[in-house]
Amino acid sequence: MKVLVTGGCGYIGAHTIVDLINNGFDVVSVDSNIRSTTQLLDGIEKITGKKVRNYKVDLCNLEDTNAVFHENRDIVGVIHFAALKAVGESVNEPLMYFQNNLTSLINVLKCVKEYNIPNLVFSSSCSVYGNTKALPVVEETPLGEAQSPYARTKQIGEQIIEDYSRVNETNSILLRYFNPVGAHESALIGELPLGKPDNLVPVITQTAIGKIPKMTVFGTDYDTRDGSCVRDYIHVMDIAAAHTKALQYLLEHRNTSNCEVFNLGTGNGVTVLEAIKAFEKISGIKLNYTTGPRREGDVIAIYANNSKAKEKLNWEPKIGIEDSMRTAWQWEVSLRNKVLSN
Ligand code: NAD
Ligand code: WQD
Repeated sequence: MKVLVTGGCGYIGAHTIVDLINNGFDVVSVDSNIRSTTQLLDGIEKITGKKVRNYKVDLCNLEDTNAVFHENRDIVGVIHFAALKAVGESVNEPLMYFQNNLTSLINVLKCVKEYNIPNLVFSSSCSVYGNTKALPVVEETPLGEAQSPYARTKQIGEQIIEDYSRVNETNSILLRYFNPVGAHESALIGELPLGKPDNLVPVITQTAIGKIPKMTVFGTDYDTRDGSCVRDYIHVMDIAAAHTKALQYLLEHRNTSNCEVFNLGTGNGVTVLEAIKAFEKISGIKLNYTTGPRREGDVIAIYANNSKAKEKLNWEPKIGIEDSMRTAWQWEVSLRNKVLSN
């Protein structure tokens, strides 16, 4: 069974491709490489022994996107990861985010409709909940005001798929990821942030390796157990597994409506200082960090209630914060070793 993955050269797409292949699926990828290279495809081949074809196509171009679907009419589903995801950039470039993330989604849906593709899985985000106070969040928690244009593209993306689903046959699943972290155990694929990273885990590993001289903990005066923000850090291979399970759920017609939404988190809130401690424990490195003011727009605390995904998708996150840090660190070290050997 063949699956079309958009954004397959990116962080979560690449890890999901590995899980799909390990579960017997054939995969083709569409990625314009606007935010990636084909490096992770080489890693996928080393891990799985399978070469994955990537169509270097901008999904905002309907004609080119249609040509890919035309050539792959036998696919059983689409997993749509492709999007721009930098929150800060989206604040400065809102139109670029609406244009890219929504046009690409609409084009994918047009092709899904034209070629009668039965199943669609969409990358959504916990950012759709905004600044909610109801913790842990369940899928029914009312969506709050989006804190950035990026988050708004995810809210609107979900609504577009919901509206589409009301009048079309396609079965869809919206997966709301919390904070995906870590890398494949082999250290052959992982997160490749372009330029200076914003997310906590690449900031930690880049500080430890010396790419960043010193990192700052943004805010230690929050009303949390140690004063720093709380997040639900979930390993990327656990996220990957949920995509395969979501697709299998749809293929086995276990869905109860034609558009369902699931939280993908561990269910555990971890503070920034606890994440740093976990890193220091697994690496044996004393991290060079300082404490600083709050980062504008940060939610104080958010973590998932993941019961729905556990129950219905038969999914269980297996990897904890320490192994998440360990695999992220192994990946960072492998990137350095690659540079040194070149
Ligand atoms: P990523 O940037 O590593 O991968 C996204 C890929 O999409 C990139 O390779 C990029 O080149 C491609 N792309 C973007 N626009 C495209 C277009 N118009 N046409 C073709 N390709 C295009 O990001 P990721 O971390 O793997 O995220 C994957 C998805 O998950 C995104 O939709 C993101 O918004 C969502 N998500 C990510 C996180 C996170 O923290 N990483 C959290 C929640 C949701
Ligand atoms: C985590 C915590 C920071 C860097 C973002 C998006 C969200 C989703 C996941 C896509 C916060 C603190 C960070 C640093 C720090 N992405 N931090 N020093 O903000 O929870 O969510 O990624 O959908 O939409 O907003 O993730 O990794 O940036 O931050 O103290 O140098 O680490 O303040 O508390 P965030 P993050």
